[in-house]
Amino acid sequence: MQLGGPSWTVLLGRRDSTTASKENAERDLPAPSFDLANLTQSFANKNLSVTDMVALSGGHTIGQSQCRFFRHHIYNDTNINSTFAALLQANCPQANGSGDSTLAPLDAASPTAFDNAYFSNLLAQNGLLHSDQQLFSGGSTDATVRSFASSASAFSSAFATAMVNMGNIAPKTGSQGQIRVSCSKVNS
Ligand code: HEM
Repeated sequence: MQLGGPSWTVLLGRRDSTTASKENAERDLPAPSFDLANLTQSFANKNLSVTDMVALSGGHTIGQSQCRFFRHHIYNDTNINSTFAALLQANCPQANGSGDSTLAPLDAASPTAFDNAYFSNLLAQNGLLHSDQQLFSGGSTDATVRSFASSASAFSSAFATAMVNMGNIAPKTGSQGQIRVSCSKVNS
């Protein structure tokens, strides 16, 4: 893969919806303000385990977030490295509405490599989102974060398993929906 991530065998024939619902997405997707209990519940609602949740959160090894989603964490939370918080504060002003869309990498250690640095960041309290740092903040998922931080291969194999599990969330059945020719878009 281009960025160095693991690969896995994707099951074929999933029936997907022909429409999208903003309301359903907003109702079911976890928010960056969620605590560990809310995160765990969101994933459990989709039959995903706590290990799946921690592994999939490692998707934040690449990509960026807008300031609006991490502002509260960098100004108000105490489980954040103070040097890291100060760096982020320089580009993400405290006032709502000011610099809302300014971006910061979700994995500052290696923003464009698919690796397990996301988890080492959490050990150093360098998680960008409140929801990221929740995975390593004295709770039940600390041990899994430590294990993925110390073993890239443990993370890779858990991520691949969890991606297959995520791909099995609530498929359409019978004649509902359609099997897409291209998985990212409705058949034309
Ligand atoms: C644990 C619950 C999760 C929460 C609360 C969450 C939240 C967020 C937020 C707030 C952003 C920034 C969006 C923006 O600024 O517009 C983001 C970006 C991203 N998320 Fe998540 N996410 C979660 C799980 C996941 C999962 C499961 C994956 C994939 C396996 C994932 C992959 C990504 C990627 C790749 C980006 C960067 C997008 C880009 O740079 O364009 N996230 N996430």
